[in-house]
Amino acid sequence: MNIQVLTLFPEVIDSYVNTSIIKRAREKNIVSIESINFRDYADNKHHSVDDTPFGGGAGMVLTPQPVVSALENLDYKNKKVIYLTPKGKTLNQDLASSLSKEPDLILLCGHYEGLDQRVIDHYVDLEVSIGDYVLSGGELGALVMIDAITRLIPGTLTEDSLAEESFSNYLLEYPQYTRPREFEGHAVPDVLLSGNHKNIELYRITESIKLTLSRRKDLIAEGIENKYFSDRIIKLIKQVKKNLL
Ligand code: ADE
Repeated sequence: MNIQVLTLFPEVIDSYVNTSIIKRAREKNIVSIESINFRDYADNKHHSVDDTPFGGGAGMVLTPQPVVSALENLDYKNKKVIYLTPKGKTLNQDLASSLSKEPDLILLCGHYEGLDQRVIDHYVDLEVSIGDYVLSGGELGALVMIDAITRLIPGTLTEDSLAEESFSNYLLEYPQYTRPREFEGHAVPDVLLSGNHKNIELYRITESIKLTLSRRKDLIAEGIENKYFSDRIIKLIKQVKKNLL
């Protein structure tokens, strides 16, 4: 997959995508990530990219020309152009998963009071929000998308670690422990030290179900609606609800 980020702050993107799992995915050529400063495409003497809003009001609006020139230079018609904005469709695991199958994404980061609406109407395929709060620009949103998407591309993580993650199966992930066995008087649950893999698996599924029922009942309801759960999981959910486990 190729991801190109149009931004006024490419250094913000570059610094994060040069660390940890995303860095490794780039090195393995699973994903290529390029940040492009659309200020470089401004055709005015001072490379200005914004102007006051027609109709008045606070703040500045990004002018269409630099963004559109940058998009044209990227052959945008053959790629999926996504604009990061609080007005967009909220990102979730399903959206990240479907976008992880796209060959080419262009992530467009706004700033100030945002983009001229004509650019959104005529050049953007999808508007995405990362949550119900307002950020100063789209860069953090673009990075959240890049991270959520990259880890879903085959080869980035092992199959096992993906399958057990929160949301991938309509359940929140069970708690994890490592050495030492006792820390500040708090012990690791005995079952995890038992070596009995069947019991460990039952404990983990039960913990997942308990956590999801207490924090995110909506996920369980969605899993049931989508007929995702096996008969065994449904039975366990019922038992947890009745406090039998
Ligand atoms: N830009 C500003 N706020 C945003 C949000 N919540 N999601 C995505 N992009 C944004």
